Amino acid sequence: MRRRFAALLLCLASLAWGCSKKTEPEPTQAGPMAGPPARFYYDLGPAAVDVSAYPSSYQQGYKLFSAVCATCHSTARALNAPYAEADTWKRYVRRMHVKMESRSALPAPQEEALILEFLIYDSKVRKLDKSEEFQAQQEKLKTRFEEAAKR
Ligand code: HEC
Repeated sequence: MRRRFAALLLCLASLAWGCSKKTEPEPTQAGPMAGPPARFYYDLGPAAVDVSAYPSSYQQGYKLFSAVCATCHSTARALNAPYAEADTWKRYVRRMHVKMESRSALPAPQEEALILEFLIYDSKVRKLDKSEEFQAQQEKLKTRFEEAAKR
C-alpha cells in the first residue's frame, strides 16, 4: 500500500515536472505587444513607467512615446534598453525615424522632439540616477533571456 502511494507520488511529481516544462512560456515582448518573441533582452522588462511625478511636458512625451513607439515592437524595448545618454537616444530616435518614414507613419517633428526629451529625462531618472537598481534589473533580464535561448 505504502509502495503504491509512493509510486503514485512519483508519477504525479513527474507529471507536474513535465507540465511545468511544457507550459513555461516562450519569452515574448512585454506589455500590450506581448506576442512577438523577444528579440533583445530589454524586450522582457516592464512596458510602462510611472510618470506621475514627472514634469508635465515629459508626461506628454511619454504619452506620445507610448503611442508612436509601440507600433512595431514593445515600449519595453526602449524603456529597458541600456541606452541613457542624450546622444545615444538622438541616434536611435533618428534610426526609428527612418523606419517610420518607410511606413509613412511619421509623427510630427514637435512630437518626435517631445519623445526624445522624454527618453532622455526618463533615462536620467531611472537609469543614471538609480544606476545600481537599473544595473541589477539589467542582469536579471539578461539571465532570463539567455536561459530562454538555451531551451
Ligand atoms: C516602423 C517600425 C518601428 C517603430 C515605429 C519604432 N521602432 Fe524601434 N525598432 C524597430 C525595429 C525593426 C528594430 C530592430 C532592428 C533595429 O534596431 O534596426 C527596432 C529596435 C529598437 C531599439 C533597439 C535597438 C538596438 O539595436 O538595441 C530601440 C531602443 C528602439 N527600437 C526604440 C524605438 C523608439 C524610441 C521608437 C519611437 C520613437 C521606436 N523604436 C519606434 C522598428 C520600429
